[in-house]
Amino acid sequence: MTKDIERVLLSREEIQSKVAEIGKQITEDFADKNPIFIGVLKGCFIFMADLMRNVDIRCSMDFMAVSSYSGTSSTGAVKINKDLNQDIAGRHLILVEDILDSGVTLNYLKNYLQVRQPASVHIATLLDKPARRKADIHADYSCFEVPDAFVVGYGLDYNECYRNLPYIGILKPEVYS
Ligand code: IMP
Ligand code: MG
Repeated sequence: MTKDIERVLLSREEIQSKVAEIGKQITEDFADKNPIFIGVLKGCFIFMADLMRNVDIRCSMDFMAVSSYSGTSSTGAVKINKDLNQDIAGRHLILVEDILDSGVTLNYLKNYLQVRQPASVHIATLLDKPARRKADIHADYSCFEVPDAFVVGYGLDYNECYRNLPYIGILKPEVYS
């Protein structure tokens, strides 16, 4: 595991303190709005769990599963593998993602959900890789900007591996070449 990591980009401590800050911000912004946090599986799972424990308001949670990636490069296609099973009309939504990369996934999801007429759709992402953006989309809440390197850990995977690392690290290129 750790032997496959070139260097640690964000330590467990750095992540915890930033996630707490973002949670506090969302707490202020969404007080009395009863938002639904919608986690985009599977990458969101650790970030979502930590974020939610830093949000001190009435809210609920749901999850969607999409696939758009195989290995380290986008296939360009977004497929909904698990949809919501509740009415979201008139509700405030906060999409929770592990990383905003090309933006293709979140752009698709945002448009897909807008059709159901929610009151608002916001985006909270752990990582933002602006250098790779293709779609015209930005995060309302972003914990960290990262350089254009393939990162894993804290929920992020490479071929389903490394999600359990407690930090974010850059994968050694020889692992995926
Ligand atoms: P986008 O549609 O290009 O924004 O891709 C979003 C998805 O690609 C994320 O939810 C991740 O699952 C995956 N992804 C993009 N960059 C990375 C990375 O550096 N490490 C791990 N997964 C990544
Ligand atoms: Mg992934």
